[in-house]
Amino acid sequence: MDNYDVECALEICDVCKHFGGIIATDHINIMARSNTIFGIIGPNGAGKTTLFNLITGIYKPTSGDILLYGKSLVGKLPYEIACEGVARTFQNIRLFNDLTVYENLHIAYQKSITYTIFDGILKTKKCKEQEAKCAEISEQMLKSVGLWELKDQLARNLPYGLQRKLEIARALITNPKVMLLDEPAAGMNEEESEQLSGIIKDIRNNNDITIIVIDHHMDVIMDVCDEITVINFGKQLVTGSPYDIQNNSEVIDAYLGVGD
Ligand SMILES: Nc1ncnc2c1ncn2[C@@H]1O[C@H](COP(=O)(O)OP(=O)(O)OP(=O)(O)O)[C@@H](O)[C@H]1O
Ligand SMILES: [Mg+2]
Repeated sequence: MDNYDVECALEICDVCKHFGGIIATDHINIMARSNTIFGIIGPNGAGKTTLFNLITGIYKPTSGDILLYGKSLVGKLPYEIACEGVARTFQNIRLFNDLTVYENLHIAYQKSITYTIFDGILKTKKCKEQEAKCAEISEQMLKSVGLWELKDQLARNLPYGLQRKLEIARALITNPKVMLLDEPAAGMNEEESEQLSGIIKDIRNNNDITIIVIDHHMDVIMDVCDEITVINFGKQLVTGSPYDIQNNSEVIDAYLGVGD
């Protein structure tokens, strides 16, 4: 039991969120174990993004608790939750459009920079070492998502699918314990989404990280996730392995549609 608790990276405990009369999430319970990929699926308006907004402190739950490695995140501000080790990407991409690909990463790395303005002016050893580290990690991140060759392009000029990859790299460079991906495959064709699945799995395999992913691309979800929960109209229908989910009649009726 103790071991199980230690292995739980993110726990959503009986969380409800009401917007006036709308019940966006209704008694949701999720346990995402450490170093796994956990999927959240469900029809439009099911409450998936709301869950991410609750985890990251944009909204406060009406009731329930959210724990990161056993420590409550509820009541903390979004930047405090980011500092605790939760990073995310957005359903509607939010990059610094007028900065280059490389600069988008450089800015995100500032969380790890500790040299002062004086170190910067005097170009002290501390400053040079940290800048060198930033350059090294940025290169590594961009290569891992296949964007290194495009490092000098403005973010706004990247095709949609590559902007999503840049958002993932930008979240990853903050060295999060938990990374939330909101529809990373949106707008991608079959080949791109297959590539993305590989990137997501590599990230999990090469980092000490837990990934929670929302997507409507079932090929990506079923390929990358260890466990999946399905929500519909704010309510949790079922949680299980990709196999369990694909064969659950309630899920097929509500979301996946009738198979052959
Ligand atoms: N700030 C808000 N104020 C009022 N209602 C909201 C707010 N945010 C979300 N909702 C409502 O909560 C419900 C869940 O929305 P949410 O964005 O979480 O759905 P979703 O599962 O992410 O859908 P999609 O797959 O379309 O992205 C919807 O009915 C939505 O209109
Ligand atoms: Mg959404």
